[in-house]
Amino acid sequence: MNNRKTVKISNEEIDQQIQYVVDINKMIKNKGFKYHIITYGCQMNVHDSEKLAGMLSAMGYTETSELEDADLILFNTCCVRENAENKVYGNVGALYPNKQRNPNLIIGICGCMMQQSDAASYIARKFPFVDLVFGTHNLHRFPKLLFDAINSKETIIEILDEEGRIVEDVPIKRNIGVSAWTTIMYGCNNFCSYCIVPYVRGRERSRQPSDIIDEVRRLGQEGYKEVTLLGQNVNSYGKDLDNPYYFPNLLMDLDKIHGIERIRFMTSHPKDLSEELIRAMAESSKVCEHLHLPIQSGSNRILKAMNRRYNREKYLELIDRVREQIPDIAITTDIIVGFPGETEEDFADTLDMVERVRYDSAFTFIYSPRSGTPASKMSEQIDDNIKKERLQILMSVQDRISKEINEAMYGKTYEVLVEGLSKNKEDMYTGRTRGNKLVNFTASEDVTGKIVKVKITQPKTWTLEGIMV
Ligand code: SAH
Ligand code: SF4
Ligand code: F3S
Repeated sequence: MNNRKTVKISNEEIDQQIQYVVDINKMIKNKGFKYHIITYGCQMNVHDSEKLAGMLSAMGYTETSELEDADLILFNTCCVRENAENKVYGNVGALYPNKQRNPNLIIGICGCMMQQSDAASYIARKFPFVDLVFGTHNLHRFPKLLFDAINSKETIIEILDEEGRIVEDVPIKRNIGVSAWTTIMYGCNNFCSYCIVPYVRGRERSRQPSDIIDEVRRLGQEGYKEVTLLGQNVNSYGKDLDNPYYFPNLLMDLDKIHGIERIRFMTSHPKDLSEELIRAMAESSKVCEHLHLPIQSGSNRILKAMNRRYNREKYLELIDRVREQIPDIAITTDIIVGFPGETEEDFADTLDMVERVRYDSAFTFIYSPRSGTPASKMSEQIDDNIKKERLQILMSVQDRISKEINEAMYGKTYEVLVEGLSKNKEDMYTGRTRGNKLVNFTASEDVTGKIVKVKITQPKTWTLEGIMV
């Protein structure tokens, strides 16, 4: 149980940041300054980048898609797996010539990776041309930090260890469209033994229900049709709030908001998926028939070593209960292969669960040891080639199942929320079903932003094609 109190940042502190926004605005006035943000990692990071973009817009910066044109380049980093980190170092290093060409260019690095001990000092040593380094707990102090970076020759570094405070009212520059994200809680208390997230995002903190409801109401008024509620474990939303108010209550309240047609959320931890939540999902009309329920492994022995606090029997029971109440629900998952000590039998158990549950799709990962996590110190780390082999086998099983499930959609008609013209398919529109399946389809008029009916004419492994009916 989480006994921490969720405390909001003081108005005084917010006013200070607003003053820095105003000061930067004056400083860069009429200079046409542009920014470029490169984001790695999960949706929560993507949403944090929308907040950074919102603050930059308020300062008078405009966005550019070209690195070469940018006066400010920000890397919002992820450290959940090693390959995410390597990409950042490579891309930061490659900017050295840009900085030489344009000494006024500001390069900043923020996000989860910077929250690890040593990361900031490593950056300062290895890439001394970086101007600004900050972490996940002080995103709201970005205006001050940027002000200092612009006015200083030294690298500005600020990483806070302390979390537990929530900032509201940061301007957000969302991608214009039909679908918006909102973070409903920050941090994670679960400490799965492989995972770095609780170390870099801190403990669970829930936003106040009224703040979330007001935000979603505004989104509805602005024309967004879909909202995705974000949190590392949304099922434990509210456990740290003063009044009893939990995730199912939030879903039922958001269900009433005018203009919003679809509600999604991620991620759910199986140990916290309650009967009340399943009922709320079934009863609300706007919560989509899609559940992302990471299983991570199908072996009870490995699940225990991962500190996941459920077993395969409990997981299957949950799936049964969900499918009983929401018959056509799409279920997706995350799976890790090659966790320390994973034997051929353990891996066979994972494949067995994939066959039993029959996921619509799965994000599959090779276990990556993260410094500071218990699993990284476990003996019996698995050989890289075995990990890669297992990933290939797992992916081919999942692809077959995804294809079979999609093929069963052939000839049927689904509601699709249209995102716009497809980027890959000429003259086709693209959108998602309530089950979160991507559909490309032909339509005789511009249907962007609308919910239309599409008949599936060509099911594929990862996407579907159809015609509007
Ligand atoms: N909070 C979410 C997701 C967190 S990170 C959840 O609990 O489901 C997204 C996914 O990355 C995880 O579900 C897990 O499958 C994967 N992941 C996390 N740490 C990892 C590691 N050290 N190596 C490989 N995959 C990892
Ligand atoms: Fe990581 Fe586990 Fe928390 Fe998800 S629930 S963020 S996998 S520690
Ligand atoms: Fe990565 Fe941080 Fe998300 S580590 S997965 S960006 S919470």
